[in-house]
Amino acid sequence: MTDMQHETTRQGFPVEAWDAIAALYDEHVAPGESDLALAGLRLAGVRKGDTFLDVATGPGGLGLPAARLGAKVLAVDWAPGMIERFNAHVAAEGLDAEGRVMECHRLDIADDTYDVTGSQFGVMLVPDQARALREMVRVTKPGGRVFLTAYGNPDEFEALHFFVSAVRAVVPEFEGIPEDEPPLEFQVSDPEVLRRRLTDAGLKDVTVDTSHHERIEVLSGQQLWDWCIGGNPIPGALVADFTDEQREDIIRVLDGMIRERSAHNGPAVFTAPLNIGVGTK
Ligand SMILES: C[S@@+](CC[C@H](N)C(=O)[O-])C[C@H]1O[C@@H](n2cnc3c(N)ncnc32)[C@H](O)[C@@H]1O
Repeated sequence: MTDMQHETTRQGFPVEAWDAIAALYDEHVAPGESDLALAGLRLAGVRKGDTFLDVATGPGGLGLPAARLGAKVLAVDWAPGMIERFNAHVAAEGLDAEGRVMECHRLDIADDTYDVTGSQFGVMLVPDQARALREMVRVTKPGGRVFLTAYGNPDEFEALHFFVSAVRAVVPEFEGIPEDEPPLEFQVSDPEVLRRRLTDAGLKDVTVDTSHHERIEVLSGQQLWDWCIGGNPIPGALVADFTDEQREDIIRVLDGMIRERSAHNGPAVFTAPLNIGVGTK
């Protein structure tokens, strides 16, 4: 990884990098997230008729399932391409929801507005997480709930390690993700840190559920490649300097590894542990 890539991985990526992957995210990542979204919404007690704010929604990670449950949803994200896709899903399904472009460190929303506020894989990865969490608490009604869904222990993030080993098989000098200073994505991978950050943001009765996992099923190297590149700008930045031939070789290696993992029988399954923290204002 170059110094510049290392710095971006540490500081977070600009809005353009998220806009650039909005279509891939919507097609390859979002469809597999509905079970874990429902787990978060259930833990926070979202019910029909509640007002719900989804922060850093992407193409609708929490906002769409919440609207399908009958909540009145505002979904915000700083990337216009993500919000465009969210609003297209809302229109296609005729849901009671609206998407708006908004920076999560400065929500343009009045105090005490929402029954429940949540963020899945969004506020997890922003550079000033304490401030973004305080914003989520500020716009939630007294007595309302705030929740954050984030990745747990990076050592158990199977798809990521699989991807890195396939890249190393083709480019042996590939360094992968720095282990001494993990990316912002893992800043609350320790459930105790997440509990403390939610408490410091002004929440009470904070609990962190560690029983849920993200689970993806993949049939081909191309599918895992698309999931990795479409889910976050980091993998794309790591392979940005590779030639087309190297990329094709990596996808071929992934194909073989996936066939072996599934014992040539159906899709290979990859899991990653989650922390779902919930508190009351
Ligand atoms: C990994 S995606 C998660 C999307 C969605 N919440 C989900 O569960 O699939 C992270 C999202 O956070 C958004 N994001 C990153 N930084 C942000 C910021 N400072 N303000 C608002 N949105 C941000 C990105 O544009 C992206 O849509």
